[in-house]
Amino acid sequence: MRVSVIGANGKIGRLLVERLRAADGLEPVAMVREEAQAADLRGRGVEAVTGDLEGEFAAALEGAGAVVFTAGSGAHTGKDKTLLIDLWGAVRVMKHCLARGPRRFIMVSAMRAGDPDAASGGIKPYLVAKWAADEWLLRSGLEYTILRPGGLTEDPGTGRVEAAARIERRGKIPRADVAAAIERCLRAPETVGKVYDLLSGEVPVEEALR
Ligand SMILES: NC(=O)c1ccc[n+]([C@@H]2O[C@H](COP(=O)([O-])OP(=O)(O)OC[C@H]3O[C@@H](n4cnc5c(N)ncnc54)[C@H](OP(=O)(O)O)[C@@H]3O)[C@@H](O)[C@H]2O)c1
Repeated sequence: MRVSVIGANGKIGRLLVERLRAADGLEPVAMVREEAQAADLRGRGVEAVTGDLEGEFAAALEGAGAVVFTAGSGAHTGKDKTLLIDLWGAVRVMKHCLARGPRRFIMVSAMRAGDPDAASGGIKPYLVAKWAADEWLLRSGLEYTILRPGGLTEDPGTGRVEAAARIERRGKIPRADVAAAIERCLRAPETVGKVYDLLSGEVPVEEALR
């Protein structure tokens, strides 16, 4: 199955593309913003297309059986970009999926996006944007899975996580384990229609997302 990865030049995106490239039966289509990044990916045997969530991105979704949205405006841009990428960029991709496919949609959201009022300070507008994008997806009719990881780290993956509809404790998770969870969601139909908070834990990813 072809899997469109939106945000493929990001830290999770790169790990995911590499993981899917090496996996059986899943073929990543990496959407990046720069032609040089696309050329570099192609040189490594990955199908890559340029696209921009504020502009055109349809080519990245052509022929895909699933899409993974792991884009984000990042910590170094203003709240305008949080709205335009994390919220509106996601909604634009969902609208495209409803009109032209694919139906399977995996969203990388964030822990506490289910309840932004529980947060205060600078992170709250970001969580509101994530909440609104998630709500749109929940009501869209698309075959969604929403992953809400805690603080992301560059630590090596362990393949073990804690996953539940809601986890009260704060915590972290290596991006590599988020990528593993995304791959699991792509393979496991029982993850359709589910929302998971995701932290480092003790349970193998396959079991934790059951
Ligand atoms: N940091 C955390 O602790 C944390 C915790 C929970 C959830 N999250 C969420 O997890 C997701 C992935 O995190 P990450 O660390 O992998 O993020 P990242 O490294 O910042 O990657 C985000 C990607 O989004 C892309 N992007 C931004 N604007 C775009 C646009 N207009 N069109 C197309 N692509 C665009 C960026 O492209 P360029 O490479 O071209 O800039 C980048 O590759 C994000 O949604 C983030 O909010 C983060």
